[in-house]
Amino acid sequence: DEYTMKIVCMGAGYVGGPTMAVIAENCPHLCARQIAKVCTKNTIVVEKSTVPVRTADAVRRVLNCNDKGLDFQVLSNPEFLAEGTAIDDLEKPSRVLIGGGEDEAGQAAIAKLVSVYQNWVPAEQIITTNLWSSELSKLVANAFLAQRVSSINSISALCEATGANVSEISRAIGSDPRIGPKFLQSSVGFGGSCFQKDILNLVYLCETFGLDECAEYWHQVIKMNDYQKERFTKNMVSKMFNTATGKKVAILGFAFKKDTGDTRETASAFVCRDLVQERANLHVYDPQVKREQMMVEFDYTLNLSTKTEPDLEKLITTSPSAYDACDGAHAIAVLTEWDEFKTLDYQRIYDSMAKPAFLFDGRNIIDHAALREIGFEVYAIGKPWNKE
Ligand code: UDX
Repeated sequence: DEYTMKIVCMGAGYVGGPTMAVIAENCPHLCARQIAKVCTKNTIVVEKSTVPVRTADAVRRVLNCNDKGLDFQVLSNPEFLAEGTAIDDLEKPSRVLIGGGEDEAGQAAIAKLVSVYQNWVPAEQIITTNLWSSELSKLVANAFLAQRVSSINSISALCEATGANVSEISRAIGSDPRIGPKFLQSSVGFGGSCFQKDILNLVYLCETFGLDECAEYWHQVIKMNDYQKERFTKNMVSKMFNTATGKKVAILGFAFKKDTGDTRETASAFVCRDLVQERANLHVYDPQVKREQMMVEFDYTLNLSTKTEPDLEKLITTSPSAYDACDGAHAIAVLTEWDEFKTLDYQRIYDSMAKPAFLFDGRNIIDHAALREIGFEVYAIGKPWNKE
């Protein structure tokens, strides 16, 4: 066979994809040199990581400079796995995208990777494109998803100002099949390792090609996300009689979404940072995130805003349960949509809190009418204040 059946995949992603060999290197060029060094036969190299567009070109040039007379084909095969559902996404992908060279050798390499996927993915779900379309599609997919969240979040601010209900709007517009119901859940802001990074990558690309209006368009998705996080904290402070100083605030949820312990770019860290700046005492509970991880994330978010907080360790307590976090608190902020927060004994929590007992729902996951019945003062993203 002209090419070895060994397919070298660059980038491990969340679970590595269907790789036979994974070389995880931060720099694709170094990675390419390493591959060229160890390979003894013609080889297909598959880019799995999200990369700047045209990385494959650079990788191919490095590889084909080898002095062994070997031919390397480079394919782009981005993964679309989401955290918490990665194995499911891998086993039942909505689509598999494979980009490769348009010449005969490139097409043969594509066919080979297609044949690997065909072991478990129906042929009609395998999309083949040229290299650059594939690389760019990964960025665009994440940018579009993030854009939907920012779009509905911008509407949540309007809802709060006007008395409309953002959940009703999501339902109303999402039932139009052209819009669809997914990624219309208004929240305190999107997080995770991919959305912001990929949009910034797209912004950079647009700027590189002098497409300033396009760059600004996509940048706005991130600005709206920042606005949403800041808006949430400002609202908390304003509702708590314009000061959080010395108040105990229970933070329920620190991960960037449920069913993961990942905290990268989590909205919770930004809300906590701003509350710490207001001198609130935070008691954070997350079912999966450990204190050390939280502190790493706080350091990162503080650095982003060039703020320092010498008393950080004192102002942030990590709690062993939601009940501990809420005991004696003036306010609760629900920042990750963990299922366990839906079924807590809120009467018990209310009884243990300072009054008035504020609850700020940044995920719209709790039954607000029932909370108000108990006596909570409830504020939720995109909902009319104190009524629904
Ligand atoms: C994302 C993409 O979905 C995935 O295809 C890609 O491979 C990697 O990036 P992930 O980062 O795991 O996956 O999380 P995702 O489920 O997309 O959520 C991202 C953020 O958006 C989370 O903070 C989530 O809470 C938020 N979100 C999502 C909303 O606020 N509202 C929604 O309606 C959906």
